[in-house]
Amino acid sequence: MCGIVGYIGPQPAAPLLLRGLEKLEYRGYDSAGLAVREDDKLRVIKTVGRLQDLRDILEHTAAPRGTLGIGHTRWATHGRPSDENAHPHTDCSGRIAVVHNGIIENYKELREWLVEDGHTFKSETDTETVAHLIESFYEGDLVAAVRKTIKRLEGSYALGVIHLDEPEVLVAARQDSPLIVGLGEGENFLASDIPAVLEHTRKVYILDDGEVARLTADKVEIIDATGSPVDKDVFEVAWDPVMAEKGGYDHFMIKEIYEQPKAVRDTLKGRVAEGRVVLDDVDLDSETAKKIKKIYITAAGTAYHAGLVGKYVIEKLARIPVEVDLSSEFRYRDLMIDEDCLTVVISQSGETADTLASLREAKRRGSRILAITNVVGSSVSRETHDVIYTWAGPEIAVASTKAYLTQLVSLYLLALYLAQERGTIDQGQLKAYLDSLQELPQGIQAVLDSEQTIAELAQEFKEKEDIFFIGRGLDYAVAMEGSLKLKEISYIHAEAYAAGELKHGTLALIVEGVPVFALATQTRLRDKMVSNMKEVKARDATIITVANRGDESIKEASDRVIYIPETEELFRPVLAVVPLQLFAYHAALARGCDVDKPRNLAKSVTVE
Ligand code: M6R
Repeated sequence: MCGIVGYIGPQPAAPLLLRGLEKLEYRGYDSAGLAVREDDKLRVIKTVGRLQDLRDILEHTAAPRGTLGIGHTRWATHGRPSDENAHPHTDCSGRIAVVHNGIIENYKELREWLVEDGHTFKSETDTETVAHLIESFYEGDLVAAVRKTIKRLEGSYALGVIHLDEPEVLVAARQDSPLIVGLGEGENFLASDIPAVLEHTRKVYILDDGEVARLTADKVEIIDATGSPVDKDVFEVAWDPVMAEKGGYDHFMIKEIYEQPKAVRDTLKGRVAEGRVVLDDVDLDSETAKKIKKIYITAAGTAYHAGLVGKYVIEKLARIPVEVDLSSEFRYRDLMIDEDCLTVVISQSGETADTLASLREAKRRGSRILAITNVVGSSVSRETHDVIYTWAGPEIAVASTKAYLTQLVSLYLLALYLAQERGTIDQGQLKAYLDSLQELPQGIQAVLDSEQTIAELAQEFKEKEDIFFIGRGLDYAVAMEGSLKLKEISYIHAEAYAAGELKHGTLALIVEGVPVFALATQTRLRDKMVSNMKEVKARDATIITVANRGDESIKEASDRVIYIPETEELFRPVLAVVPLQLFAYHAALARGCDVDKPRNLAKSVTVE
């Protein structure tokens, strides 16, 4: 997620902007830049890389002295990380500079229109269209031009804008992307998050969707979408700076768990239109889709668990056989891959060494590669043929949560896309699936609302040394993810088993008081699952069941039941995993573990 800062006041802007950006580094970024008004020109300095690279440039050129400026750390979405694609972006005249966080969904149409109108683009970004639109609407009033511009935008944005002709003004606008104004004495600040302004002020305005703010050194005026002035309450920040980075949450992991409804919504955005799946960065036409004989999915850890769900769903909907492999195994197998195969590579970071090696191996054998990744510009995204980006935003906690959910959603989109192109489902079925996909964010939110109950459960079981997770079909895949989450952050030994496999060995470990999470969301397998739960119950284990709302009779075979809201059967993993994430988080917390940085683990595993 990009970071935005802005400053207007009596002090040199550049050092303040850099300091603010440092406070937003936790959001993840791949390039950085700033634009400062200096005398009769705008100095724009930007670079791919870290803030230190930007600092180095500023040290080697004379740093701008102006007192009005905007700054940005970019987390690439449209266009790879590069100097040209870094923000701020300017219009043709170089008199307007813009920083942006979010995604302008209709940027292609806008860009075509602007190019026809004579504008020249310097980057591949969606953001640059905003600078040119403001240029085309500007008639001496920056606020008016920004308001006209945002009426043309579809998607999400937090914007910071300056114009040479209005040296005393900084304009901000927000839609579905956070933005705050920090209120100083004779100076004012703009930022995408509170930590960036905390050194200077604890008084902030939190902008709401549709609002536009006009900042001068002494005044902040806010208007709503209709143009009426907004009388906003000042929010007094009570958090300490570290907490502020986590948006008031205690840990990144729980923050990221709570970001899941939005992450899923963002991943779906623009990919469903008129009852069909639209995958812009996937170049698989019907003909190619029909020719696919086999799909290989390869990934590690949580991404592998997403792949297991993918197998089930692609086979069911698109009727293509799928094999799923851990990438550390896949890369050394004597693979029977050729040009009739599609290899799907899943990686949040896009840098996992084994996954990258698997991608190269499959490519070498002639397979087409489709990547599902969260990081634009990552090695995986650069080396793949096609890509589906998971718009989860940067994931900081080592334990993957929101990336997993968006990987699932991407796999659903892929399965439905293949089914649509191969004609293996009809229009009515497709529409029904797409409608329920779009309802998932509300379902996730409903599960999050039961956090307190799950926290109490975690307290109760925090001293246990072994916990089992069982399920059948898709529930088995979810059990594997629940087990990984628990063991990696709480250090409780956890194992996932296919419920039908228990009596082939593992049942020997099920004794009195051992907690067993039973995933029982799959209607077709529900009664089989209940039989397995009874086997466990007969050994006096404690059964915590995750079931569909309305399944009252499952209580008889359970000690506790966590209900998830009703949704299409194939999509239930998205909801069923959330209580397991919350359980892992609270168990780790109760055991005093370092939740965000578990021992021996790293966020990005770039070694074999
Ligand atoms: O970045 P990747 O998705 O390729 O990472 C794969 C695994 O390293 C990752 O999912 C790991 O298992 C997480 N710690 C799980 O929470």
